[in-house]
Amino acid sequence: MNRHLISAGDLTKDDALLILDTAEELARVSERSIKKLPTLRGRTVVNLFFEDSTRTRISFEAAAKRLSADVINFSAKGSSVSKGESLKDTALTLEAMGADAVVIRHSASGAPHRLANWVHGSVVNAGDGTHEHPTQALLDAFSMRRRLGNLDGRKVAIVGDVLHSRVARSNVLLLHTLGAEVTLVAPPTLVPVSIGTWPCEVSYDLDAVLPKADVVMMLRVQKERMNAAYFPSEREYSRRYGLDRERFAKMPEEAIVMHPGPMNRGMEIAAEVADSARSTIVEQVANGVTIRMAVLYLLLGGETA
Ligand code: CP
Repeated sequence: MNRHLISAGDLTKDDALLILDTAEELARVSERSIKKLPTLRGRTVVNLFFEDSTRTRISFEAAAKRLSADVINFSAKGSSVSKGESLKDTALTLEAMGADAVVIRHSASGAPHRLANWVHGSVVNAGDGTHEHPTQALLDAFSMRRRLGNLDGRKVAIVGDVLHSRVARSNVLLLHTLGAEVTLVAPPTLVPVSIGTWPCEVSYDLDAVLPKADVVMMLRVQKERMNAAYFPSEREYSRRYGLDRERFAKMPEEAIVMHPGPMNRGMEIAAEVADSARSTIVEQVANGVTIRMAVLYLLLGGETA
């Protein structure tokens, strides 16, 4: 594996399977009464968050602590970033404090890549702008594999605001590597212009895609990144692209529903669908800790699963 985890596209099939298999081993440890392992004792993980996060930030912290690493949590709010300190100077300051790994979330696509040129430790991308979120894709693949088994040939529909979604891009890249067949479903206004280069199909008709899907992954409508009107109204979006009870009934009986969170309940997904037994949304959060343990273990301390 590379020293950094910046793009899901950098992972070979063997790399991805090693992470998923290592996470499976670590999940067994998490079931014990004493969940902590000494593996990363003496190592320091810095969580460098320039954008808001609940799941990713907390799960990286929990993952590092379960592996006995020292954890420094940095949030741009309340730091010297508000006085104009640059990303490079912030990173070098944290490295001077002994960071072995820097987990970064930033609003600028490419920020983790830049950071990797400035620090000696491993860099893990925890979400950069509208670009990538590789550990989300890994935890999603892990969640799918636990429910459905092998992903080879599985049909995955990723639905909604693809244009602003780093989750969609990382999932397309990783799921393609793992042999799944991905179809993106979105209004034409929320499809990136570069979509022809992505290894997936594109559809504008959710009702046509649902009956064949093994997995339906709903994406959050990212209103905070929208600087124009991408659809006539929330009601119209929900009517065409929301997963409500009627659409849920069109899915095959064994198919699962996913969402990376945070959700707009009632917009892209109905509350009763999000809370159904076929939803993996809560499992995805729990699996996020396990996958991030596996990533930190393999980057900082481990050899094989
Ligand atoms: N899925 C995800 O990245 O959630 P957070 O923004 O809460 O970290």
